[in-house]
Amino acid sequence: LSSLPLDRRGRPLRDLRLSVIEACNFRCPYCMPADRVPDDYGFDTASRLSFDEIETLVRGFVALGVHKLRLTGGEPLLRKGLSTLVQRLSRIDGLDDIALTTNGSLLAAHAQALRDAGLGRITVSLDALDPQRFRQMSGGRGDIADVLAGIDAAKRAGFESIKLNCVVERGLNEDQVLPLIQRFRGSGHVVRFIEYMDVGTCNGWVRDRVVPSAELRDRIAARWPLHPLEAQYRGEVASRYAFQDGQGEVGFVSSVSEPFCGDCHRARVSADGRLYTCLFAADGHDLRPALAQGETALRERVGAVWSHRADRYSEVRGSGQAQRRHVEMFLIGG
Ligand code: GTP
Ligand code: 5AD
Ligand code: SF4
Ligand code: SF4
Repeated sequence: LSSLPLDRRGRPLRDLRLSVIEACNFRCPYCMPADRVPDDYGFDTASRLSFDEIETLVRGFVALGVHKLRLTGGEPLLRKGLSTLVQRLSRIDGLDDIALTTNGSLLAAHAQALRDAGLGRITVSLDALDPQRFRQMSGGRGDIADVLAGIDAAKRAGFESIKLNCVVERGLNEDQVLPLIQRFRGSGHVVRFIEYMDVGTCNGWVRDRVVPSAELRDRIAARWPLHPLEAQYRGEVASRYAFQDGQGEVGFVSSVSEPFCGDCHRARVSADGRLYTCLFAADGHDLRPALAQGETALRERVGAVWSHRADRYSEVRGSGQAQRRHVEMFLIGG
């Protein structure tokens, strides 16, 4: 245990976000705009890690201090046999928490199998309730009714408090904020608003399109009074507020207006086995050569990369220090 790595800013490695697939059946303009990532984009499916490789990889990360695993994509439910993978990962000692981030469109069919396999938590991306607005936010793909059915199916399967992540873009889906809360307040699910970020290279991000969380919070509180909640653990990404009337809570992820790099304990691995030490990193570190040698080699490689890590992109955004080239969000799943 003495060998748990700290990065150059003294941050331990606690949290792994693992993409199981880079493809997605949506084309959200803030992530994977259809004109930049066409349907025949040519994803390199051959280089995806196998389930055996993923299991070895996760074991290695757990030995380095990871307790939390989040499976992402692209859209992770497009990966064949995902619940089999979850079942294998849920047997790993020391992994306390396995979560999944999905766009929800295929969730109804998979929720029960995922629950039975040992998945602990589900987060569904949900940017709008209005059908037309929903299609604008998904790049014209999918159907809001399927996503809502997925959320209901997940609840029936035993996922208690589902997080619903809404990326808010100024002038686009701002009008969905109050309706989303209206709909899910009191349901046990938690709506969280995410500031539109300059991830990847294709979304044409401009700061004017970010709605700062403080502004949203004030708008919400004017209708449903709020009081702040304590973080549940150090480095919690969302700041949380409870409705005064006891009807649950709402969260805000404010990586543009209030960066949280100081407590960033997250590593990200793409479906093809590259390690990214920041959501905004330009390049990943190919873990496959080490992985081919087994868990010990993998552990050494990851430990070495983590020890050299100094990332704090959101704190230097817009300054001369900020890196301009970024990995695409759909490769590392947010
Ligand atoms: P919990 O374990 O439920 O607290 O999950 P989480 O909030 O860490 O994960 P989730 O995937 O729900 O994160 C919500 C969004 O926050 C992501 O989709 C990203 O957009 C953003 N986010 C998560 N981690 C980071 C991070 O390290 N840096 C930045 N800049 N944004 C992040
Ligand atoms: N800004 C903020 N969040 C984003 N996501 C993807 N692209 C962006 C962006 N440009 C996040 C959303 C989505 C998850 C899969 O990735 O939270 O729900
Ligand atoms: Fe797909 Fe999620 Fe990206 Fe939307 S945000 S295109 S659902 S990976
Ligand atoms: Fe971590 Fe990079 Fe996000 Fe900062 S910007 S919190 S270093 S992932």
